[in-house]
Amino acid sequence: MSKVLAINGSPRRGGSTATLLQKALEGAASAGAETELIHLIDLDCKGCISCFACKRKGTKFIGSCAVQDDLTPVLEKAMTSDAIILGSPIYLGDVTALMRAFIERFGFMNVSYDNKRHNHFTGKINAAFFYTMNVPGLASLLYSSVYKFNAGVLKKLNGTVTRLVCTDTWQFDDYSQYEAANFDVEKKKKTRETRFPKDCEKAYAIGRRISIARKDGQHEK
Ligand SMILES: Cc1cc2nc3c(=O)[nH]c(=O)nc-3n(C[C@H](O)[C@H](O)[C@H](O)COP(=O)(O)O)c2cc1C
Repeated sequence: MSKVLAINGSPRRGGSTATLLQKALEGAASAGAETELIHLIDLDCKGCISCFACKRKGTKFIGSCAVQDDLTPVLEKAMTSDAIILGSPIYLGDVTALMRAFIERFGFMNVSYDNKRHNHFTGKINAAFFYTMNVPGLASLLYSSVYKFNAGVLKKLNGTVTRLVCTDTWQFDDYSQYEAANFDVEKKKKTRETRFPKDCEKAYAIGRRISIARKDGQHEK
């Protein structure tokens, strides 16, 4: 049975990001995977502290992180999963601070300063990154450099890397309660009712696809 781990970088446990991640895990479960969703907001952890314990000669921390906090077991779980799915809202042009802390630790421990591949990991973990954001459609291209950078981090896992970009998300339960005159609420509502379910379907399909392992232990492309 393959193991699929999803990590939510939104502080909202029931927001758009968490919903998409849950759908992806439902997709993975439909293919027989064992699944788990972790909300980073529940953890007491920080980003990289630049101790370089993972880069010292003779260190036991090659390919792992020496910092011991609530993220420690999550990093271990991620490295022993068959597929991981990261999800984050865009906050002021980048992933959230919660997700950034995860990426600093997870990304840097997998970087080698000692070989041309810049990579220690010889296994294969399929990966996906789900981004959610308020901006509509093409404006999501504003964050292309963020998607590209994070795809580079995930490529170090030697598996497939898939991206889902979910735009024009529904931010408040009741727009009339907020100072938000810039939004066309009816249009937003329509997007929520018509496009978001399609993004959920895409998330389900991605979760199912990246969780399926071939008989030889390799993942399907
Ligand atoms: C602090 C903060 C900053 C945000 N910055 C951006 C932004 O730069 N671009 C954008 O498109 N949306 C921005 N948003 C909107 C969120 O990305 C969007 O509502 C997202 O879908 C929320 O995900 P969630 O429902 O999973 O929490 C911001 C929201 C917050 C709270």
